[in-house]
Amino acid sequence: TSETQNTIRLSATPRGIRAAAGLLRAGELVAFPTETVYGLGADATNPRAVASVFEAKGRPRFNPLIVHVPDLEAARKIARFDARALALADAFWPGPLTLVLPLAEGARVADLVTAGLPSVAIRVPEHPLAQALLREFGGPVAAPSANPSGRISPTTADHVLDGLSGRIAAVLDGGPTGVGVESTILGLTGDAPLLLRPGGLPLEALEDALGEAVATDISGDITAPGQLKSHYAPGVDLVLNADVADAGALWLAFGPLAGRRGLSLSERRDLREAAAKLFAHLHAIDALAREMGVSRVLVDPVPDHGLGRAINDRLRRAAAPRDS
Ligand code: TXA
Ligand code: MG
Repeated sequence: TSETQNTIRLSATPRGIRAAAGLLRAGELVAFPTETVYGLGADATNPRAVASVFEAKGRPRFNPLIVHVPDLEAARKIARFDARALALADAFWPGPLTLVLPLAEGARVADLVTAGLPSVAIRVPEHPLAQALLREFGGPVAAPSANPSGRISPTTADHVLDGLSGRIAAVLDGGPTGVGVESTILGLTGDAPLLLRPGGLPLEALEDALGEAVATDISGDITAPGQLKSHYAPGVDLVLNADVADAGALWLAFGPLAGRRGLSLSERRDLREAAAKLFAHLHAIDALAREMGVSRVLVDPVPDHGLGRAINDRLRRAAAPRDS
């Protein structure tokens, strides 16, 4: 968007940490150091705050985000841990390991964090400032790397400001990060552990701790980034950019419904609101269509700029043929 703000640099002091936590509580974006790279943090329970992460990064699609918590106890409120997950958390947390686990019943994270998936990526960072911020904030923090989409991940506060100054509220300056590459991401939602992204924790260390091999071929795995073609497809057919006048049709509107049947992503055509509501509305419109016995949903055009690009990407995937 055209919104700009003054990005403040907060010091690694109790006062800086309190200010950072206060901004997160207010729904603002705060970059903070982890031992891997700087993350762009948002309150993971606040749909609008999470939507603005994608906006600030200029991400053309809604990749799911990693949820950061201070310890295993907090993690267990968000994800379901089996024996394997507990063993790995015990061995490597806090540290550069992200686990993809089934979402816990009643987990309070915005749909955009998981991109509507039944799984969640969760991590307990070791960096003392990240730890202090997470404890002071007291809730889960969703954070991708704090760089504009397509640029390399930042390892200093100056890198963060180079890329995102004017687009985020603050950066908590903890100096250069230690590890410098992102966390290793391990998927534990299937039969075998699956390496979804190599990173700061070596594969060998994981296999040693697990006492079993870790699969590394993600080509058949739907949860891996980039493999998500029609995964979010609802049961009904979505007709994108619809401009027909069909009195009986069910609509997913962008803007006022104006007498049409259906749901609006945003009555006032606000892309951030539409992004925040997208996954919940896709689920709801599917249920509504079933209830009404209709097999297709007409979708208003969504402007293809800013967050609209990510919304359209996701709508296209949701509309893609099921068997592709
Ligand atoms: O070191 C790191 O992991 C940094 C620091 C800030 O913690 N974070 C980071 O986040 O690298 P990001 O957003 O750049 O990468 C997150 C990756 C994405 O590739 C995403 O697709 C994957 O994690 N991911 C997140 N949730 C997932 C899920 N439920 N299933 C599969 N992959 C998931
Ligand atoms: Mg990244």
